[in-house]
Amino acid sequence: MPTRRCGSSSLILPILGIGCWQFGGGEYWGPQSQGDVDAVVRHAIEHGCNFFDTAEAYNDGESERALGLALRAFPREQAIVCTKIRPSNVTPAEVVAHCDASLRRLQTDYIDLYMVHWPITAHSIRHFTTGATAVPDVADAFAALDGLRRSGKVRHLGVSNFGRRQLTEALATGVPLVVNELPFSLLARAIEPDILPFCRERGLGVLGYMALLQGVLSDRYPKLGDLPEFRRRTRHFAAGSTPKSRHGTPGAEAETQAALDAVRAIARREGMSTSTLALKWAFAGDGITSSLCGCRTVAALSENIRAALEPLDRDLVAELNRVTQPLLAALGPSFDYYENPAHDRTV
Ligand SMILES: NC(=O)c1ccc[n+]([C@@H]2O[C@H](COP(=O)([O-])OP(=O)(O)OC[C@H]3O[C@@H](n4cnc5c(N)ncnc54)[C@H](OP(=O)(O)O)[C@@H]3O)[C@@H](O)[C@H]2O)c1
Repeated sequence: MPTRRCGSSSLILPILGIGCWQFGGGEYWGPQSQGDVDAVVRHAIEHGCNFFDTAEAYNDGESERALGLALRAFPREQAIVCTKIRPSNVTPAEVVAHCDASLRRLQTDYIDLYMVHWPITAHSIRHFTTGATAVPDVADAFAALDGLRRSGKVRHLGVSNFGRRQLTEALATGVPLVVNELPFSLLARAIEPDILPFCRERGLGVLGYMALLQGVLSDRYPKLGDLPEFRRRTRHFAAGSTPKSRHGTPGAEAETQAALDAVRAIARREGMSTSTLALKWAFAGDGITSSLCGCRTVAALSENIRAALEPLDRDLVAELNRVTQPLLAALGPSFDYYENPAHDRTV
């Protein structure tokens, strides 16, 4: 498995990371057996794909718990464990308790990479809480997170979904951050012009998430309408296509389908599955350290690992960029794919 250094930090990551949101099952992804989680984690570690991305928010902690159970079979140092704290929980009074709870669920005494899941703003926090919650002070929050790093509970700190202004504010605290985790796939390229090069400039690695746009970029769901309801919440889909949607826009289904058809045609021509081609494109992203892909079975994981072994020809990358450009233009510059651009959480 090829690896890359995460920005200018000492953290070295495989280019394919295991997205663990599906682990533990739950309303969003449906049932996921612990047996399959164990098998996926074993296969991943045995093939050098030892980087796991979870969060306290995923399935109410059940993702962390399922990952922790699966990792019991391995010496701790064989896995790179990354988890995230909700932005509503980063007050100095709460940060230690939340980190400790993650450590307990993960059955470990340290987290390799601990990230703030979304920006520390009122609008972003509203999504994670039901009642009114005060917005933590950013400087206090990062000082508290740095306390975790100094105590050894956390090896590296990072952020996720932070836009340029929010990242600048976080870096100004002087707390060492190594990564920004951001959406990045052939059908979600909004980070390319601004935040991706900005991260590189500031010495941060970037973890690209939803490399297959939750299964859209595969051959499993022939039409967009075949996709399970929860996965139709992004701005690619009309707000009315699922009651779970909250962006309230007409979506860009025609452009999404056209881009997907073009990607699928190129995949067929090149003798690859759509998911393999989409992953290879994601690994080729300039400034992308590692691409995260959710894996529920060893069969899917084996295919994704094979995709990581050989890079994609630069001409193919350019062709894929061309055929997905109209969708990029239709969706606009915001990389918050779940919200109306008027309520963009990343600005
Ligand atoms: N920081 C953030 O805010 C944030 C947000 C979203 C995600 N993430 C992270 O990024 C990870 C990846 O994103 P994601 O899991 O949401 O979406 P994803 O990786 O784009 O898609 C995962 C889905 O793709 C399908 N798939 C995977 N490999 C396949 C293959 N070889 N052939 C066909 N289908 C395949 C599976 O669908 P089926 O389930 O239908 O089998 C799987 O559940 C997450 O697990 C999470 O760790 C972070």
